[in-house]
Amino acid sequence: MAAGKGTRMKSSMPKVLHRLGGRALLQHVIDTTRQIHARRVVVITGHGADQVEAVLAQQAGLQTVRQMPQLGTGHAMQQAVPVLPDDGVTLVLSGDVPLIQADTLHALLALADGSSLALLTLQTASPTGYGRIVRNDSQQVKAIVEEKDATPEQRRIEEIYSGIMAVPTRLLRGWLARLDNRNAQGEFYLTDVVKFAVADACEVKAHCIEDAWQVEGINTPLQLAEMERSYQQLQARRLLDQGVRLADLSRLDVRGELHCGADVEIDVNCVFEGKVSLGDGVRIGANCVIINADIGAGTQILGFTYIDGEEKGVRIGSAARIGPFARLRPGADLGDEVHIGNFVEVKNSSLAKGAKANHLAYLGDLSVGERVNYGAGVISANYDGANKHHTIIEADVHIGSNSVLVSPLTLGAGGTIGAGSVISKNTPAGALTVARAKQISIADWHRPVKNKK
Ligand code: UD1
Ligand code: CA
Repeated sequence: MAAGKGTRMKSSMPKVLHRLGGRALLQHVIDTTRQIHARRVVVITGHGADQVEAVLAQQAGLQTVRQMPQLGTGHAMQQAVPVLPDDGVTLVLSGDVPLIQADTLHALLALADGSSLALLTLQTASPTGYGRIVRNDSQQVKAIVEEKDATPEQRRIEEIYSGIMAVPTRLLRGWLARLDNRNAQGEFYLTDVVKFAVADACEVKAHCIEDAWQVEGINTPLQLAEMERSYQQLQARRLLDQGVRLADLSRLDVRGELHCGADVEIDVNCVFEGKVSLGDGVRIGANCVIINADIGAGTQILGFTYIDGEEKGVRIGSAARIGPFARLRPGADLGDEVHIGNFVEVKNSSLAKGAKANHLAYLGDLSVGERVNYGAGVISANYDGANKHHTIIEADVHIGSNSVLVSPLTLGAGGTIGAGSVISKNTPAGALTVARAKQISIADWHRPVKNKK
């Protein structure tokens, strides 16, 4: 169910598209349905349907139905049952309850057993706002009563309905047809199916859990921010369990997939986005942002480094040393033992084994050979105002500080470029190339003196 408005988010974006750990709330739920191998996944859209459906359009195996207008959770399910096969079990999930875990759903489905109505419930000391689970004297579930319809006595019940149930589709179809909206909110409540199940002598079972976080919904920006923290803690614990050493489990943000080899160390305040993989023994310094990158074994990323591979990705070989304060952009492909130092930007360039650019430099659209030394302040002028051009720097070239390489060029192997040169023609292998005004000294020159008044 993803048709609700989410007014309290105070946002123009549909609530279920707000992000938790870099993924839309609804996406978390969809991904969990994949984990349990759901036969069919139907998303009920309504509020902001165009936006929600646009996000879902690129994903295989999803079906959407629209609920217009939104007359309650029962009404939402009435829109979905026509596309569900009669011989199945329907698992009802909420697009704004993102942290429900696959094993909990498996347990709920096992309880439903193809013939009973199974409710996921939570024992909680703060039941306010939720539907209460009403049981009879022999502890059998009789009904779910919404907060707004509950008697003062019922409001004291501390077992609440999570919004998640598993129910044989054939039975659900019949019960939904019997719903009415004679209640405090004038809505068609899905929760009323419990009464019908009891009347039809269908067994109603409750799977009661104590992990409140699994069934917590998002209604406000505060709840979203709080859930982001619990989600990050969960990821941090998962990494720690795998043997990753985190300097502080509360100062890590993983907004995507982070894969780590053995003996990886991550210092405080690092953000990982998209797909990132860290080989054995990789060490990440404090305050790094790493997006879509593949980092080889034994490489060190020093503090304040910003790596963003975007679609193309960034690849770093083994035993490299990057940073502090380095910036790697899409298409940076760095070989083993490459060094990139402070205030160096690398974009769409390959650097072969052992190449170094240690200080204040720009490397754009380059192929850099082995052991090249790219001096302090060297800039590749790869853009002529209309087109980007490529430059090849062959093995063992040394480029003097503050030079400009006007692409396209080939710098021959083993050559040296004098500091301060503006290189606009290819340079021969082995030679020293200097392209700057010759230094002269004028001996009988006098400094100007201040005029007397
Ligand atoms: C619902 C339950 C309540 C339970 C709570 C758990 C009902 C009547 N009540 O209440 O017992 O404790 O969830 O969080 O079901 N939605 C639609 N179409 C609608 C209305 C809602 O798709 O017309 C979707 C929402 O987008 C959301 C879900 O259904 O994903 C739950 O809706 P919400 O309004 O949050 O239900 P609650 O009143 O919280
Ligand atoms: Ca809710």
